[in-house]
Amino acid sequence: MPIKIDFEQIASPCFVLDEQALHNNLKVIDYVQKASGAKIILALKGFAMYSAFPLVSRYLPGTTASSLNEALLGKEEFGGEVHAYCPAYLEDEIDEILKICSHITFNSLSQWEKYKPKVQQAGQPLSTALRINPEFSEVEVDLYNPCAPGTRLGITAEQLGDTLPEGIEGLHFHTLCESGAEDLEKTLQAVEEKFGHLLHQAKWLNMGGGHLMTRKGYDLELLIELIKNLRQNYQLEIIMEPGSAVAWDTGYLVASVLDIVENRHIQTAMLDVSFSAHMPDCLEMPYQPRVLHSVNESKHKYRLGGLTCLAGDYMGDFYFEKALQVGDKIIFEDMIHYTMVKTTSFNGVGLPSIGIWKEDNTFQLVKKFGYEVYKNRLS
Ligand SMILES: Cc1ncc(COP(=O)(O)O)c(C=O)c1O
Repeated sequence: MPIKIDFEQIASPCFVLDEQALHNNLKVIDYVQKASGAKIILALKGFAMYSAFPLVSRYLPGTTASSLNEALLGKEEFGGEVHAYCPAYLEDEIDEILKICSHITFNSLSQWEKYKPKVQQAGQPLSTALRINPEFSEVEVDLYNPCAPGTRLGITAEQLGDTLPEGIEGLHFHTLCESGAEDLEKTLQAVEEKFGHLLHQAKWLNMGGGHLMTRKGYDLELLIELIKNLRQNYQLEIIMEPGSAVAWDTGYLVASVLDIVENRHIQTAMLDVSFSAHMPDCLEMPYQPRVLHSVNESKHKYRLGGLTCLAGDYMGDFYFEKALQVGDKIIFEDMIHYTMVKTTSFNGVGLPSIGIWKEDNTFQLVKKFGYEVYKNRLS
C-alpha cells in the first residue's frame, strides 16, 4: 500500500527521502539486472545519500565514482565493487584511487599512457577501460550532451584505431540523459558501427548512465533485449551506472513560506530554501520543479522566491487553490537525485536537513547541518 507522508511533522528546510519509492525503483532495476544479466552499479554523482546505502546495496553490487572523494565514500559506506571514471585523474589522487577501485576508465589515450605503469603496479586485480565517444547522442541540451562537437569527453574511433591498447579490457560510453531504451538502441547502432571491431576484443562494456528505467513508460523489455543481444554477439559483460534512475522521484525538498512580497502585481512567496543554493539544476537546466498541491491555473498565482540575494533566485509561476500564508509548507517534488549532491551554502544559507520517511510510516531525521558546514569549507 502506498504510504502517505505527513509533512506537518517535518521541520523545514529538509530533504525527505521516500524509502518505499526508492525500494520500488530498486526492484525495477533488479528485475533488469536479473533478466538481462547486466551488472548495474550506482553513480554516486547522482545520488550519494549514504544513509540509504544499506537498502541500495541489497540490490546493486557497487558504485561508480568520478573523484577520489566519491570512491572513498563508495568504499566506506556502500561496499562491493568501486568503479571509477574521471575526465582527468589528479597525480596526487591516482595512487589512492587505484588502491580502492576494481575497475578504472580513462578518458583519453594520454591519461592511459601516463598512468599505465601505476596501474600495472597496483596490488589488487584491476580492470582498465577507455571511454569512447560514438559521436552520436540524442541529448538536445548541450550542457548534457557529451558528444557535442569539440567535446572533451571520450576517444573517437578514429583516434583509437583497429586494436585495443595492450592492458585495456573494457570500453565505456556515456551519451544518454534521462533517456529511453529507444535512445539506447540508436546509440548502440552508432557504437557498433564505429567500435564493433573493438567490442569483439573487449571483456566488458560500460554503457554509462542516463538509462531512466524507473520512469513510467520506459520500455524495460527493449532494454533487456538490447543487453542480451550485446552479451551474445560480442561475449561481453555489460555494466550500467545510472544515478537518476535509482533515485528518480523518490522524495521532496520541504520548504516554508517566510514572507510574501509584491511588486507590480507580482506576488512572491519568499521561502526558507534557495533555487541557487539548494536546487541549482532548476536554474542551470533550466526547468520548473513540480510543487505538491499546486494547480494548473487559479487566481492565487505566485513566484516562489529563494533565500539568497541573487536577483534571479526565483521560479514562477505557481498556482495554488488558496492564498498562501506565512508558515505554509511548500513541497518540491523529485528533489533527491542530483539536487542533494549539488547544494552549496552560497550567501551563508544553511543546508536543508536530510531525513527519511521510512517504509514503516515513521520519520527519521538523519542529519541537521549548522554553521560548521559553511565555515569549514572556507578559511
Ligand atoms: C560517466 C557517467 N556515468 C554515469 C552518469 C549517471 O547518469 P544518470 O544519473 O543520468 O543516470 C553520469 C552522469 O553525468 C556520467 O557522466
